[in-house]
Amino acid sequence: MTDGVDGDATADPIADTAAAVDAAPVIEATGLRYSYPDGTTALDGVDVRIEQGERVALLGPNGAGKSTLLQLLGGLIEPDAGSVSYFGSTTDADSIRDRLSVLTQNPADYLFNPTVREDLAYGPTQQDVPQQRVDRRIEAVAERLGLTELLSKPPFRLSGGEQRRAALASALTVEPDVLLLDEPLSNVDAANRGEILDLLGELSADDVTLVTSTPDTELLPHLADRVLLLDATGSVVASGSTREILTDTELLADCNLRPPQVVRLFEGDEPVPLTVEEARRRLDQR
Ligand SMILES: Nc1ncnc2c1ncn2[C@@H]1O[C@H](COP(=O)(O)OP(=O)(O)OP(=O)(O)O)[C@@H](O)[C@H]1O
Ligand SMILES: [Mg+2]
Repeated sequence: MTDGVDGDATADPIADTAAAVDAAPVIEATGLRYSYPDGTTALDGVDVRIEQGERVALLGPNGAGKSTLLQLLGGLIEPDAGSVSYFGSTTDADSIRDRLSVLTQNPADYLFNPTVREDLAYGPTQQDVPQQRVDRRIEAVAERLGLTELLSKPPFRLSGGEQRRAALASALTVEPDVLLLDEPLSNVDAANRGEILDLLGELSADDVTLVTSTPDTELLPHLADRVLLLDATGSVVASGSTREILTDTELLADCNLRPPQVVRLFEGDEPVPLTVEEARRRLDQR
């Protein structure tokens, strides 16, 4: 650190402020508690800090509170206690809807227009993106997610997997800096999964922050580098690298989860492969 007395070029208060803003977490949540109106406690004091460009997974068994946490982080519901802030300043998620996109677990939440095309146009049109650019975004995202032929269909006439892809597409046409995705691959076939994972990889390379909820340890290594593990009581019981969490059999068992099959198969290897692709490379080397 410089005190600025020696005229160091970095001693610029404006640059320092910009650096401080850059360093601010994209999302910071403290002491989150949430109960549903019927009295079910979904989250019981959760702290989360997500840095820019991170790929973080919320992992936990059914009912752990992943979807509730994702909705709280996305500002779709208000906590009973605690707070969420974005980019180190605002606490109002609605003021940053052009930067933050949320995909909840139910695709129908996003599919309410007469056609898929109109659903994909909804977000950017709300943000006054010019029509030509909206159209370009729709064509590009639809092409990637295999939706081109479906754009003129009513969304309720799509299959389950097609609806999931259409809902994801509607989150992507906003071109957000931060994407919160609740089980984006469930119901999606292998080819489309691959395409979605490639696309998420490209977004991540472009510094888009990705927070994904999943109960699936097999998929997780493809989605995240860091994991927040929730247990059945709605608490975060561990936070660590994907490798640390997915190789801790006891910790996972405490949360009714199991390591990926390949981790069990290669137990004892150092480092143990987390994906089939890593395992294949390991075998090729032998
Ligand atoms: N609308 C609701 N009303 C009452 N209780 C609810 C409601 N939605 C969820 N819950 C309860 O809150 C808890 C957390 O649910 P949540 O949907 O966040 O879990 P999850 O980790 O996303 O599970 P899954 O893996 O099945 O998606 C569960 O006990 C669930 O039964
Ligand atoms: Mg859920």
